[in-house]
Amino acid sequence: MEKKKEMIKVKNLVKKFGDFTAVNGINFEVEEGEIFGLLGPNGAGKTTTLSMLATLLEITTGEAYVNDFDVATKRDEVRKSIGIVFQDPTLDDELTAYENLDFHGRLYGVPLAEREKKIAELLKLVELESKKNLLVKNFSGGMKRRLEIARSLLHEPKVLFLDEPTLGLDPQTRNKLWEYIKNLNKKKGVTVILTTHYMEEADSLCNRIAIIDHGNIIISGSPDDLRDQIGGDVITVETEDGVKLEKVIKGCKGCKSVKHHDGSVTINVDNASKKISEIVELVNHNKIKATSFVMHKPSLEDVFLHYTGKTIREEESSPIEHMRLRRRMWHGGGK
Ligand SMILES: Nc1ncnc2c1ncn2[C@@H]1O[C@H](COP(=O)(O)OP(=O)(O)O)[C@@H](O)[C@H]1O
Ligand SMILES: [Mg+2]
Repeated sequence: MEKKKEMIKVKNLVKKFGDFTAVNGINFEVEEGEIFGLLGPNGAGKTTTLSMLATLLEITTGEAYVNDFDVATKRDEVRKSIGIVFQDPTLDDELTAYENLDFHGRLYGVPLAEREKKIAELLKLVELESKKNLLVKNFSGGMKRRLEIARSLLHEPKVLFLDEPTLGLDPQTRNKLWEYIKNLNKKKGVTVILTTHYMEEADSLCNRIAIIDHGNIIISGSPDDLRDQIGGDVITVETEDGVKLEKVIKGCKGCKSVKHHDGSVTINVDNASKKISEIVELVNHNKIKATSFVMHKPSLEDVFLHYTGKTIREEESSPIEHMRLRRRMWHGGGK
């Protein structure tokens, strides 16, 4: 089988802010046509990584290529190759949806006839045709995000960059947005790199993900591959005596790994239905107060927990962090 082109290549990429290392020598590749996700908690270094790839931030050391262009030396070429949707909307509220798209098309020098055609096609793709003459200030959060995605595709970029695409959207809108992203990946063949701290988002959207924490990529692969690495089943026990239970389980034969975290103990076993009664017995015998026992197949949350010893949710996001890097954007030149 012919090997696909690598649309993004990242080699030993480092970003320091003063003494602080935000991105600590990461490596990954994204193939043409893939939807690739950087999954990690707030502060992991996702936005910083994406910003370096988008030429919005200077890299400290290492190398990165987008569409074969070096992000350090071929900034214009990189920028023409990508469409970006970062966290805070950059739409003009006082313009209509159509005018916002038209303005962006002009900026990129898309000729009138082509511009009109593309705008119509993209508005259809994100189901906003009927809203095209509405002022953007009357749009919901979900509609704005869809319009931004449409806008980012107007100059036919090879790669779409999405930074936390569904942050702050309600679950229903989130699901819908996933469909749009999958659809345009399929229909337009655009390669997508996105960041998220939502497990379900990475699971539902991405062909491949890299789990990132404290500036390091912990592990990468398809969601299924990552789950298979954990293998077997997971039993989660909700208990206030987590420390005690963890100790007890460590002596249990056939319990492959055990992790104690915020009010639960997660136990990895080969076959949960065979092991569960023994675990219940151990809990009772040791007089441990447990409120529930749940058996399930490993999720990406279990993968994250396995490799980092904590859950992604333990580090929920603070929106302030997200705002900082932005705005500097396109025209500013990144430092
Ligand atoms: N301009 C900056 N100056 C100093 N520290 C920064 C700056 N931007 C980000 N950081 C820090 O770098 C780390 C990674 O940030 P970021 O890439 O935004 O994480 P994520 O997008 O994964 O939430 C965080 O600890 C953040 O506080
Ligand atoms: Mg971020």
